[in-house]
Amino acid sequence: MKIVAEIKEPIAEEMELFEKKFHDAMLSKVALLNRITFYIVNRKGKQMRPMFIFLAAKIVTNGTVNERTYRGASMIELIHTASLVHDDVVDESYKRRGFFSINALWKNKIAVLVGDFMFSKSLLLSVEYEDYDLLNIVSSAIKEMSEGELMQLEKARRLDITEEIYYDIIRQKTATLIAACCAIGAGSVVKDTAEVERFRKFGELIGMAFQIKDDLFDYGDEKIGKPTGIDIKEQKMTLPLIHVLNNCSSSDKRWLINSIKNHNRNKKRVKEVIAFVKDNEGLLYAEAKMQQYKKEALDLLRHYPDSIYKDSLILMVNYVVNRKK
Ligand code: IPE
Ligand code: IPE
Ligand code: MG
Ligand code: MG
Repeated sequence: MKIVAEIKEPIAEEMELFEKKFHDAMLSKVALLNRITFYIVNRKGKQMRPMFIFLAAKIVTNGTVNERTYRGASMIELIHTASLVHDDVVDESYKRRGFFSINALWKNKIAVLVGDFMFSKSLLLSVEYEDYDLLNIVSSAIKEMSEGELMQLEKARRLDITEEIYYDIIRQKTATLIAACCAIGAGSVVKDTAEVERFRKFGELIGMAFQIKDDLFDYGDEKIGKPTGIDIKEQKMTLPLIHVLNNCSSSDKRWLINSIKNHNRNKKRVKEVIAFVKDNEGLLYAEAKMQQYKKEALDLLRHYPDSIYKDSLILMVNYVVNRKK
């Protein structure tokens, strides 16, 4: 069986119902909006966040989810989708999930407004059902993500960015939302705050590994459904490059900095930088850090007794670091 199908097996019914609920949560009276949301729903992503939610809930209860779990999943997927729609505007990226991004097809103005609509729908969903605990988790995640994206704009272009700052950025822009998934999954079915906190931490750790993997994709030329090689073009320093910059000779460092600062639109030069990062073990280093986060995440799961849900979540942790897109 393919790995994703295997992970989904114990949550297959929930995922199917979730898709319907997620679509309904996006409906609007405005025809243009419905056309765009129809487009989005038809090009769904990997849906890893709802998977985390259902698996966390089922591990805690040994197999039961409730309406709050479904609402949590819709809220999170709305936020995730909105953040990608906005992210592609910010990154001037024209490809997403193997096809044109919303900004490529409908331009920035519409993409900004569609993202706003989805954020507000997400929050309204929790208000409507008085899920204030979920509202709390989700609105903090939105705040963290926006700060993370802004911090990236402020700091990731600085050529003296440290590894610590890189981790802060990815924690805020990506790991917090995955942490929120796991906290919501657990919190939708139990009141135990220690339990929820354990899952939040698990999500944060695997979220860090998730973004390091995403940043590694940028150095490859695999078909992943979105552009590769754009981070250097955008002068965005990520872990492989940060590591190499901090560990090479001063003349190499001058060459790298000059390339990134003054030749980032030159395809040949960008390729040379990528090759330099590879030759100097930048990818290996980032890979090792990713594995470290993954291991810490797995260690937290030892607390739970064996179950088919736990097995699935372990497979999912491995999928995060081994996936091809
Ligand atoms: C992409 O997330 C954005 C990041 C945080 C790196 P995913 O890789 O989960 O995107 P989709 O939903 O599968 O397209
Ligand atoms: C992830 O940022 C998007 C958010 C966390 C909002 P990136 O810009 O690194 O992700 P991709 O590669 O476009 O999906
Ligand atoms: Mg992007
Ligand atoms: Mg971005």
